[in-house]
Amino acid sequence: MATLAQTRPLDLLADFPAIPAGWAYLDTAATAQKPRPVIDAIMRAYDTTYATVHRGVYQRSADMTLAFEAARRRVARFIGAGAPEEIVFVRGATEGINLVAHRHPDKRRVLLSQLEHHSNIVPWQLAGWQVDVCPLTAGGHIDLDAAEAMLTPDHSMVAFAHVSNVLGSVLDAHRAAELAHRVGAKLLLDGCQAVPRLPVDVAALGCDYYVFSAHKLDGPTGFGVLWGRADLLDAMPPWQGGGAMIDRVTFERTTYAPPPARFEAGTPHITGALGLHAAIDYVDAIGLEAIHAHETALVGLARERLQGINSVRLFGPEDSAGIVSFAVEGVHPHDVGTILDEGQVAIRAGHHCAQPLMDWLGVPATARASFGVYNGAADVERLVDGIERVTRIFG
Ligand SMILES: Cc1ncc(COP(=O)(O)O)c(C=O)c1O
Repeated sequence: MATLAQTRPLDLLADFPAIPAGWAYLDTAATAQKPRPVIDAIMRAYDTTYATVHRGVYQRSADMTLAFEAARRRVARFIGAGAPEEIVFVRGATEGINLVAHRHPDKRRVLLSQLEHHSNIVPWQLAGWQVDVCPLTAGGHIDLDAAEAMLTPDHSMVAFAHVSNVLGSVLDAHRAAELAHRVGAKLLLDGCQAVPRLPVDVAALGCDYYVFSAHKLDGPTGFGVLWGRADLLDAMPPWQGGGAMIDRVTFERTTYAPPPARFEAGTPHITGALGLHAAIDYVDAIGLEAIHAHETALVGLARERLQGINSVRLFGPEDSAGIVSFAVEGVHPHDVGTILDEGQVAIRAGHHCAQPLMDWLGVPATARASFGVYNGAADVERLVDGIERVTRIFG
């Protein structure tokens, strides 16, 4: 179990101007705070270097295009993609999953799990897939033995969260890929909560598609990544139509650009790409191994301390990555969140866009504390003090 000494802050708080002294921000799973280098990169782009990309013949636009495409190469290197052309820039994980759900050419049965975020459930329903649901183990992991028994050659897709946004449980993605491929299905991983917390190498994982959102990785909102294996993206028809995704347009017939441009209709979120580039540089300089160890230690400490309060029920496995969900007996999570806020502790309370998981847990909502590089043991103590106050107020 983690000790206080092991959970000393990474000493990075000063990099995050939107976290004032005395505020314990424990809602990083919803969105991460932004470090100064990310803010500066975005400000600099609007202040001094701004222009459109891909179309301009003037030098400023050519420079911005180079910066935009450098961000794509940086993302590719960060997640172990084979080539920058495998990186499709999207609005976020939600759009990435919608794109695959609607455009993967072999649209039949998809195996999801009980713990998925709504953005990894609803797109498949909307796109007309037959949906099957893999149960969880008692500890809150996706039950891959059950997945093995459920998968049939009728399944053309398996789509699982790499890390649960509620329980923090980490998927054995390598085994999930093997199981999917054994029946001829592809594996899409929702990496929203994994990319900020674990080293991710899509080639080593053996998956086929991977999605994540920049704003959970200390980057800007409205921007994210769909990675797809080159052969799969090549085989995929366009998604939205417009500028930038075409080769030649006539009223009789239009031909399309190769990936990734084929899937990036319209003027892109230029500063989003630059902000994500800066965010990747920032977290890579700390090291994902170090971030993972730091957050796991904080979770260990939080679980240990919260377990000591009789009325607290903890959800999820002991080794969850950076996220702890819990309930206080007889108190609605919204009341827990409100009382904690009075003590300057920000947590999330609700169903976390995972209503089927709430059904499985047998609760309408949970309270959730989630950690980032800027948190330390003092934040855990603030959380515990706040929960003790909740129990005093509610008797
Ligand atoms: C596991 C998971 N998947 C998908 C999403 C959706 O991400 P976004 O809203 O950035 O598209 C989230 C966001 O909370 C998430 O935690």
